[in-house]
Amino acid sequence: MCGIVGYVGQRPAKELLLEALKHLEYRGYDSAGIALLEGNQLFLAKRAGKVSELAELVSKKSSQATVGLGHTRWATHGPPTDSNAHPHCDCHQKIAVIHNGIIENYLPFKEELQARGHLFRSQTDSEVIAHLIEEHYDGTNLLEAVKRALHPLRGAYAIAVLAADSPDEVVVARQGSPLVLGLGQNENFAASDIPTLLAFTKTVVFLNDGELAVLRRHGVELVDREGRQIYREPQQIEWNAVTAYKQGYKHFMLKEIHEQPLAFANTLQNRYELGTGRIILPELHTLTDKIHQVQMVYLTAMGTAYYAGLVAKYLWREFFKIPIAVELASEFRYSKPYLDEHTLVIAISQSGETADTLGAVREARARGAPVIAIVNVAGATLTRESDATLYTHAGPEISVASTKAFVAQLAALNLLGFFIAQQRGWLSTGQTRPAIESMARGPTLIEQLLQKEHEIARLAQIFYEKEHFLFLGRDLLYPIALEGALKLKEISYIHAEGYAAGELKHGPIALIDAQMPTVVLVTKESVYEKVFSNIEEVKARRGIVITVTDSLNREIEHVSDFIIEIPQSSRWLVPILFVVPLQLFAYHIADLRGTDIDQPRNLAKSVTVE
Ligand code: F6R
Repeated sequence: MCGIVGYVGQRPAKELLLEALKHLEYRGYDSAGIALLEGNQLFLAKRAGKVSELAELVSKKSSQATVGLGHTRWATHGPPTDSNAHPHCDCHQKIAVIHNGIIENYLPFKEELQARGHLFRSQTDSEVIAHLIEEHYDGTNLLEAVKRALHPLRGAYAIAVLAADSPDEVVVARQGSPLVLGLGQNENFAASDIPTLLAFTKTVVFLNDGELAVLRRHGVELVDREGRQIYREPQQIEWNAVTAYKQGYKHFMLKEIHEQPLAFANTLQNRYELGTGRIILPELHTLTDKIHQVQMVYLTAMGTAYYAGLVAKYLWREFFKIPIAVELASEFRYSKPYLDEHTLVIAISQSGETADTLGAVREARARGAPVIAIVNVAGATLTRESDATLYTHAGPEISVASTKAFVAQLAALNLLGFFIAQQRGWLSTGQTRPAIESMARGPTLIEQLLQKEHEIARLAQIFYEKEHFLFLGRDLLYPIALEGALKLKEISYIHAEGYAAGELKHGPIALIDAQMPTVVLVTKESVYEKVFSNIEEVKARRGIVITVTDSLNREIEHVSDFIIEIPQSSRWLVPILFVVPLQLFAYHIADLRGTDIDQPRNLAKSVTVE
């Protein structure tokens, strides 16, 4: 996690780096720091707390520097203190290093370096990199020194390095953590993600694992770990920087919730023929033969993306004639599943940088399984480590809590399920046509739900002081109950649990009393009577029931304390429509509790460590 940025150019580096760090703050926000090079003078400033506190610290520092580094941290080794904040330096404070990732074997190196007299100032794993570079640097070839320093290190890193004796360059390297280069006119950049670069340039070059680069004012030079030069064609990024700003919304999360009709529509766009029901996914054509031979499907992901996989399992099982399993990537990787060329692995990730998901995919491919990635961020590592990628077109998601990416993942999974089924002959195009027609109405129906925001905000007023919540759902609303509980706990810090409604009587029912609100999701589409009985069970124990339903009737009105009504739709839209009010409910509760909604405590947007 952590966000890094490097700059060499003509603009005032201090201001530019602080601006870039604001964009990167979602990746970690417990401390921040910058290094500036003015001639041969290295200036460092770092502080525990948010980027705004760093900005305050350097507000009086006037600097002509046009070369520098910036870092925003999510602590792994050592608590968030001033001294553990990056950049880290060599003994003489002439080399500065910023790092995103974990150096797994740092301890023996630290001990050896200390035995050789190196002075360590932090408890971080990252600081060894600065001291190792110091040992290899002769004051002329910084790239070579970085290459040699990294050689014995294991783990994950994206780093950027400055040295006072090499005043016009920044050296960067990548192994397992994201890093993108941005190319400009007489200026060049490196950053952990694309949205950060978009404020400055749309021309980017992706670095692969094991590669290093030197950024200079007039160009960049890429090399592999053997020092061989690499030429890589730059890419133009379409995302408009403006879409990454708040546009008048109080928080990115609220803006992103409101962007869901568009995220859903953009993900479907040009991927089906309404008249015939045919799904068009040319990005999967290279896998057509493999799809024909697949005998088992695994969906794998983490967090919200995992819940998207769970929804797909329920929907796909209705027409797939092979088994489907969904596993948390962190478990899948180490549970030794049987995998071969007839096992299709589908990895879902907004960022495409989640370490657990990448680990699962590497394991699957090493054992011959074809991998399809569903990813939102263009060019992310997962896209390059999979056999094919189906992009969700949600646009940049900045808020740490995922919303529009989830809805876009559900749209992409619907398409993928139909595509595989059409290829295999399990569904004819005629059979998919009604489903597609119903999905095409999705954006309008999501829009209708967003109109209910005031109603949901009023409900939040009633409940925001509660400390525990239960969310119940069954069938394809079970994953949505999990997601509703996750959203609430992530941003409001309220304890919330999601359960399969049928599981209620097997334990969680003991929690229910007059203080405990239960949010029950119930659709006319399936198991209506069963979930209705669960509501009765909660009421019989004096529980408070908030029912979210698309089948409002007298019975439900009678047993519910509060109701959120969802427009009627097909099974393909049910999970998408039910999640929207739960996102708004979590958002408004968190807002009333005054939490840091876009950057909740202890979290980070992309979890690039295992
Ligand atoms: C929840 C959330 C996380 C992510 C999870 C996977 O709001 O954001 O649970 O869904 O960390 O992240 P990606 O999708 O980037 O792999």
